[in-house]
Amino acid sequence: MKTLLSAAAVIVALALPGQTVHAAPAQAATSITPSALWLDDRGEHINAHGGGITKVGDTWYWFGEYRPKNAVPGRRYVSCYSSKDLMNWTFRGLPIDMTAPENIGPNWVLERPKVFYNARTKKFVMYMHIDGPLDPNETNPHMAYKLARIGVAVSDKMTGPYTYLRSFRPLGQESRDIGQFIDDDGTAYLIFEARPTKGFFIARLSDDYLDVVEETAFIQAPIEGGALVHHDGLYYLLGSGLTGWRTNPNKYATAKSLKGPWSEFRDIAPPETNTYQSQSTLLLKVVGSKQTTIVFMGDQWKPDSQWDSRYLWMPLEIGKGKLWLPEPHEWSIDVKRGTVSFPTKKP
Ligand code: GAL
Repeated sequence: MKTLLSAAAVIVALALPGQTVHAAPAQAATSITPSALWLDDRGEHINAHGGGITKVGDTWYWFGEYRPKNAVPGRRYVSCYSSKDLMNWTFRGLPIDMTAPENIGPNWVLERPKVFYNARTKKFVMYMHIDGPLDPNETNPHMAYKLARIGVAVSDKMTGPYTYLRSFRPLGQESRDIGQFIDDDGTAYLIFEARPTKGFFIARLSDDYLDVVEETAFIQAPIEGGALVHHDGLYYLLGSGLTGWRTNPNKYATAKSLKGPWSEFRDIAPPETNTYQSQSTLLLKVVGSKQTTIVFMGDQWKPDSQWDSRYLWMPLEIGKGKLWLPEPHEWSIDVKRGTVSFPTKKP
């Protein structure tokens, strides 16, 4: 009885805000089904929204906004999951679990975390959108997007804990949604939306990744949730319109050089579907022995039940300057070969 009680105590101690701990792990997944509940190794729906992905060795790490049902007021969290096949994800804890830094006040915002691994310094550098009201006592949530900054945190380990360093406006600009990109030559870039400029920036990080040092491109287009990939000699850049958590037709542009010139923006899916009710967060390039697959990672936000927000991940049809998000359906990936298959799709 004593042993049983202490085992129960351990389980309770491991429970994170708003989470039920299930005894049995979920069955191994053999596919990804867009919009479905996506269970981690504990049988919990993955809670990592506005996510970023960092790959080291043969493992992908997914960082995202952790939005639990019973969040502690004033606290914000980043979650981390790891996977070797992109279909089965192991919960690796909360590398960020903190109250407002820099006297921002309890009504603050931490969104879209992205981690870069710096091979030179062996540090893991996390960027995130940090925001809040101009007055720290302001409680109206509509006033919580006024500071428009990015935050930087650093760790010696991928899974953290991360030490929060500071927040600032990159290149002196307002910055809200951010995206991450590593070019083929290893240079790291941050994408950030700057409302007053009516556009967004692609900006190079410093050698130690701790600062945003140079404007590579400014693109005048009302785009956020910016995501970028280099494929077959062309850069493809995509993002959503500026309608908050309500979906809209996401669009893409192409360029031979990051500096541009960038093409006009075109739809990535039939516009009436509003990107199949999703918003872009990242383009994930999976280079296999047979094929390279580019995965569209989108969020399906549920503003009133954020813990239940879903994910729309789909392999893109991409090449020769064209990019298209096919109608979502169940798919499977072989990360070694880079190939995808559609187990339940009728021919
Ligand atoms: C969206 C943005 C999200 C979040 C949301 C809040 O425009 O992409 O990351 O900030 O607004 O309303």
